[in-house]
Amino acid sequence: MGRKPLLAGNWKMFKTVGEALALVRKLKVSIGQVRDREVVLCPPFTALKSVSEMLSDSHLILGAQNMHSEKEGAFTGEISPGMLADLGVRHVILGHSERRHIFGEKDEGISRKVPAALAAGLTPIFCVGEKIEERQAGRTHDVVLGQLDGGLGRISKDQGEMLVVAYEPVWAIGTGHTATPQQAQEVHALIRRRLIDKFGPAAERIRILYGGSVKPENIDDLMSEIDIDGALVGGASLTAESFSRIVRFRVPVS
Ligand code: 13P
Repeated sequence: MGRKPLLAGNWKMFKTVGEALALVRKLKVSIGQVRDREVVLCPPFTALKSVSEMLSDSHLILGAQNMHSEKEGAFTGEISPGMLADLGVRHVILGHSERRHIFGEKDEGISRKVPAALAAGLTPIFCVGEKIEERQAGRTHDVVLGQLDGGLGRISKDQGEMLVVAYEPVWAIGTGHTATPQQAQEVHALIRRRLIDKFGPAAERIRILYGGSVKPENIDDLMSEIDIDGALVGGASLTAESFSRIVRFRVPVS
C-alpha cells in the first residue's frame, strides 16, 4: 500500500516569530524541492500567521499543536478549529502526551476534538503512547488500544482514513532513548490492525508516524519498517540541518 511518507516537526514551546521565520527560510531552501514526501511544520500559535505567509509559495504544510473542540465561546486562552483553518493551518496535533500528562487531557475531551478538527477541514495528527511504568508492567498494548478506542469513538467509519496517527512512547520523548525500530514496528502493526477493525480496509491508507527522540542517526532504520510511515519530531525539528536530514531519510535497500 503506497503511503506517502509524512515528516512533521513539532516545535512545542520554542521559537519567537523571528526565530520561526529564520528556520522556515532555511527549510525552504534545504527541503523546498522534496516532492515525494509530505512535510508538516507545527510552530507555536504565535508564529502561525507569519509562517503561513512565508509558506504561501511552498508545498511545506502548516500544522498546529493543539486546539479546542468548540467552534467559539467563552473559553479564555483557547483557540478554535476555525481560527486555525483561517490562518492556513491544515494539520493539528491532538492528544499529544504532553497535553495528556502535563495538562491533564483525557480521552473523552480528545475524542471531541477529532471530529471538530475534521469538520473544520483539518487533518488530526492523533497521538497515543504508553509511559515507562506501563511498558514495564506489560500494559503497552492495552494502553495504546485504550487511547485509540477512547479518542476515536466519535468519528464515522468513512472519516477514519482522513486521520494521521502518531505513536509516541512517553519514555522516548525528549529522553534520547528512541524505541528500537522493532519495538516501534510491533506497536505500529497493532495500531494498524485496530484501525482496520474500526474503519475497514481504507485504514490501510492511514499514515502512522513514530515519535520520540527521532534524529538524523535513527530515522533511516525507523523508516525501514513496514508500518512506520513517517515521524513526529520534537527537538531535532528545531534546526534546519537536522530536520532536513530527517526529511531526506534513506531506506537501505535490503
Ligand atoms: P522529541 O523528538 O524531542 O523526543 O519529541 C517527540 C515529540 O514529542 C514530538 O511530538
